[in-house]
Amino acid sequence: MNAPLIDPFARAITYLRVSVTDRCDFRCVYCMSENMTFLPKADLLTLEELDRLCTTFIGLGVQKLRITGGEPLVRRGIMTFFKAMSRHLDTGALKELTLTTNGSQLAKYAAELAACGIRRINVSLDTLDPEKFARITRWGRLAQVLDGIRAATAAGLKVKINAVALKGVNDDELFSLAEWCATEGHDLTFIEVMPMGDMGPDDRLDQYWSLDDLRGQLATRYTLIDLPDNTGGPARYVRLAETGQRIGFITPLTHNFCESCNRVRLTCTGELFMCLGQEDMADLRAPLRASPDDAQLTQAIRNAILKKPKGHDFDYSRQHVVGQMTRHMSHTGG
Ligand code: GTP
Ligand code: 5AD
Ligand code: SF4
Repeated sequence: MNAPLIDPFARAITYLRVSVTDRCDFRCVYCMSENMTFLPKADLLTLEELDRLCTTFIGLGVQKLRITGGEPLVRRGIMTFFKAMSRHLDTGALKELTLTTNGSQLAKYAAELAACGIRRINVSLDTLDPEKFARITRWGRLAQVLDGIRAATAAGLKVKINAVALKGVNDDELFSLAEWCATEGHDLTFIEVMPMGDMGPDDRLDQYWSLDDLRGQLATRYTLIDLPDNTGGPARYVRLAETGQRIGFITPLTHNFCESCNRVRLTCTGELFMCLGQEDMADLRAPLRASPDDAQLTQAIRNAILKKPKGHDFDYSRQHVVGQMTRHMSHTGG
């Protein structure tokens, strides 16, 4: 009953990403369209149901839980959920409870998050230029996010900045972003833009900036030392000898990391996506609601894991987009 979750490619599934809402107070261009239709509130799993799902996964060997959205901190009552999940840190069943956020609500919640046992968080920030920030996020304000990041640091949270590498958008900020992160003591991870959602495929290709190229540019100014570090996520890390800081690269396009994939994604309606880059999903809401006993749910999870595909099919190498997903990134929170 409690045997660990092993997929058909002998990968142990120990990392669950949970999107607690599809809503967000920003509309980042690579993540959402301007006029998104959101799920009716009645379709959402309750926080108690999400708790039961996560607890079942933890019973099956999940050791890392990352809460995502949309923007996770805009879901009403979310602190109750973090507090409830922290009991699994107390028992030692869960090694890490964390979140990926746009930072807009951190000034309000950072201290409470730290009190729930959260130690490090990922904050999405692609630029330090207020006007560019407003263009990328459509609805966001840079100052609010910077305030949030400061509040997080003051509360003792370690902050990792996630920057989507976008040619013609933030390529001129490579060094300023790295320097700012070094000064503030944040790790920084660059991400290759993935073809998610219904935005024109041409835009995605035009903006694609390969991290091989970005890395080469960094190396013109800094000495890059490869690190063996592994946070359980897909990033590979280097240290900049001159500043001592850590920089990560998430390279779904230039260096596929699927062979070490250890994660699945749960949405706020109980869909389980076995891969970010495939359409296939399993419904966990029906087995969850079918019975207060977890046997059916556990079986549904096991059946789903047996269908986890080898990896994504994202590919831009022939100058057109292959592997495009119809759903937006906000559906699963990355
Ligand atoms: P760490 O715990 O800090 O290593 O986090 P992480 O990199 O797993 O999570 P984060 O939420 O910061 O994700 C950063 C980016 O990595 C997002 O754009 C995700 O979509 C992307 N990412 C995470 N996991 C996968 C994956 O399995 N496949 C692909 N293609 N991208 C992923
Ligand atoms: N490609 C790559 N990363 C993306 N993110 C959102 N949309 C995309 C995309 N199309 C990033 C966000 C956030 C993380 C969860 O995913 O910037 O940091
Ligand atoms: Fe919201 Fe994150 Fe998508 Fe931006 S990238 S719109 S912050 S969910």
